[in-house]
Amino acid sequence: MKIIKNLIAIDLKDENEDYLFVNGINGMVDIVHKKEREIIENWRCADEIIIKDEFEQSIYDYLVSHQYIMDIDDEQTAKQNIIEKLKHLSDERSQNQRKACFVITYNCNFACPYCYEKEVETSPVISKSMVDKVFLDNPNIEYISFFGGEPFLNSNRDIIKYIISKAPDAKYSAITNGYYLLEYIDIFKSIDITSIQVTIDGTREAHNKSRCLINGSPTYDKIIDGIKICVENKIPIKIRMNISPENLANCLEEKKRIESTDWGKNVQFELQPLFQCSSSTSNDLYESLVDNDNEDGSTENQILKNLSPISDFLYNGTKLVPVLKTCDRDGLNRFYDPYGNVYNCILAVGQKHKSIGQYYPELSLKEKSFLTRDITTIEKCKNCANSLLCGGGCPNALYDTEDVFSPNCFNFLNDVNNTIPLVYKARMSS
Ligand SMILES: C[S@@+](CC[C@H](N)C(=O)[O-])C[C@H]1O[C@@H](n2cnc3c(N)ncnc32)[C@H](O)[C@@H]1O
Ligand code: SF4
Ligand code: SF4
Repeated sequence: MKIIKNLIAIDLKDENEDYLFVNGINGMVDIVHKKEREIIENWRCADEIIIKDEFEQSIYDYLVSHQYIMDIDDEQTAKQNIIEKLKHLSDERSQNQRKACFVITYNCNFACPYCYEKEVETSPVISKSMVDKVFLDNPNIEYISFFGGEPFLNSNRDIIKYIISKAPDAKYSAITNGYYLLEYIDIFKSIDITSIQVTIDGTREAHNKSRCLINGSPTYDKIIDGIKICVENKIPIKIRMNISPENLANCLEEKKRIESTDWGKNVQFELQPLFQCSSSTSNDLYESLVDNDNEDGSTENQILKNLSPISDFLYNGTKLVPVLKTCDRDGLNRFYDPYGNVYNCILAVGQKHKSIGQYYPELSLKEKSFLTRDITTIEKCKNCANSLLCGGGCPNALYDTEDVFSPNCFNFLNDVNNTIPLVYKARMSS
């Protein structure tokens, strides 16, 4: 019997020098004090565990009962069984695709300087025959979302109505710049909408600087009017703010202002660091976001409801479940674009080399893509102790020159070194 290889020991960086032990096989989590940890670390390095006294015996018994100590072969078998079960589940789910996100067009009426789709060329609008093909291949679609470019341009109304006519009872969501909410309200009222995400980057003055029309005209007032009408009609709105050190205070000021209005009590918020921020800047911003999240009267930041598994467990109490992949964990994300390409990652949309294949004119998926990349296809992950809680990291952040089946340890290591100690501290003090 040995300390399992899949034990993840995380320094919580608190004054007691506590560690978080996570059992990478069964998802058990324990806070371990310095005294116990030193004994366990010695056992970890030794060829054989030798128990010296009653205290050590009690630790040993605890570790055995929580499967931190196991027979090496049993550990291997347990991990293999979990992987096979997850694979089976994911194969089963993929036979019955129920989600579809339509990238209506890559065209946009805004010119946000930071837009991660800036390099994507303008495009036609997705065609009716492309929409038909998606429904033909996936007859059980129940969740539909609209994305772009800008999905709610006036010129997109006909195709949006066509999609709705194919699935009038589906649940709908959208990510939009919100400029034409008023012009689309009749359509919104005719369907079941679970969320419309609209970006407001701070106060009127700040927002109008970063999110203006292509011709430079301001957009704030028209968007806010549209949001108010949606809220009046009980259409759920999530306000997104893209933050950086420069606009953080301004965005928090605007969040507070909106929260104090009648309509603002009924919106959700998602404040997220700009993707261009360096990791250390992003970590600092997360620290401020966690502080704001824990302030009295502050509406929850939805981005903090969607952390990586161990942080999510500590911050939100979400059950720790093993994963084969870091994102698109169920393997069910599908973004269908107006060129006939299909993606499974929202950040990859428009970059053809990152597509998982084509859906139009004929469905043909690549053998090697973000979809088939997981801890069983990435060589280095196969024997990594973190694999069932890491999932291989974000493939979109790999360099274009790298093999798509390369690991990206950054997300997991950043979580261990920064996010987990941060959210642990926040939870201990709340
Ligand atoms: C690319 S936009 C497309 C949909 C629509 N045009 C819109 O603006 O919502 C999708 C989402 O990404 C966000 N976004 C764009 N560029 C970003 C960046 N560099 N960092 C963080 N979020 C970004 C937008 O605010 C929006 O919520
Ligand atoms: S509105 Fe959306 S797609 Fe258009 S430039 Fe801004 S972030 Fe990009
Ligand atoms: S990406 Fe790195 S940390 Fe994650 S499972 Fe693979 S090798 Fe381990």
